[in-house]
Amino acid sequence: MIRPKLQTVKTHENGDGVASKAPPMVVRDLSKSYGSIEVISGLNMHVDPGEIICIVGPSGVGKTTLLRSLSGLMPPTSGSVSVGGKVITQPLEEIGIVFQDYRGSLMPWMRTLENVAFPLQGRGIGKAEREQRAQECLDTVGLSDAGQKYPWELSGGMQQRVAIARALAYDAHILLMDEPFGSLDAQTRLGLEDLVLDLRSRLKISVIVVTHDIDEAVYLADRVVVLAGKPASVVDNVDVDLGMNRDQIKTKSDPRFVEYRNRVLSEIMRVRD
Ligand SMILES: Nc1ncnc2c1ncn2[C@@H]1O[C@H](COP(=O)(O)OP(=O)(O)OP(=O)(O)O)[C@@H](O)[C@H]1O
Ligand SMILES: [Mg+2]
Repeated sequence: MIRPKLQTVKTHENGDGVASKAPPMVVRDLSKSYGSIEVISGLNMHVDPGEIICIVGPSGVGKTTLLRSLSGLMPPTSGSVSVGGKVITQPLEEIGIVFQDYRGSLMPWMRTLENVAFPLQGRGIGKAEREQRAQECLDTVGLSDAGQKYPWELSGGMQQRVAIARALAYDAHILLMDEPFGSLDAQTRLGLEDLVLDLRSRLKISVIVVTHDIDEAVYLADRVVVLAGKPASVVDNVDVDLGMNRDQIKTKSDPRFVEYRNRVLSEIMRVRD
């Protein structure tokens, strides 16, 4: 599938004056039903250029459904998702997606470099340029030497880095991640959290992460969006004012981090009860 491009690259400024390549994303009054069952109703949210938003909420609330709607893969039943002021009706090059199950997301018969270069086929770019672009994306995620390996020769964390590189290969400015580190061990997970922060700083992209891990949500986010209800909507927006430079030990022992975590946790427990 050839994904259309929204616009030529220009920079957008977010509220903090940080220049970002990512266009703003605005979700207006979004509802989604599967058959007669309404899963999401009247949901509003926005993602400023260069922001990291974490979405949390109970299992089955509709987080994956929301992310699919944001990606353009699944049209909402009503309401809209706009990117850079245009309502999206199909997947865009500007939007990259990373799913939880890294085992199923890479093609096992293709080497790592080919996996990353694959989505660029059909864009009229020659093989050499596709591979150069793929190599740059592997460099970006710290896997410079893995290009000739097959996915099954890589650890889970490395495979998830490849999936991130592939999402970036399109020149994605908005990265959507659905529980991207859920099936990885704790130590690998911390490394990949730092990779996401680093990519945001270096590439000035926006990132939307669905996670069950409250510590992860607060550590990564500029804002945590709490979903709840049947049908689901946004019940809380927690602005996380911990600066751009975060550190697994220092940030997580900062009293403000603990305060944000407790607020998100108590909101989730309140809506669960
Ligand atoms: N394709 C589908 N057809 C019908 N119902 C669906 C479909 N996909 C999801 N649902 C239902 O919609 C609701 C929300 O599902 P969704 O996967 O979005 O939740 P989630 O918040 O991502 O859950 P989890 O945290 O377990 O991943 C659930 O009740 C689910 O059964
Ligand atoms: Mg889900």
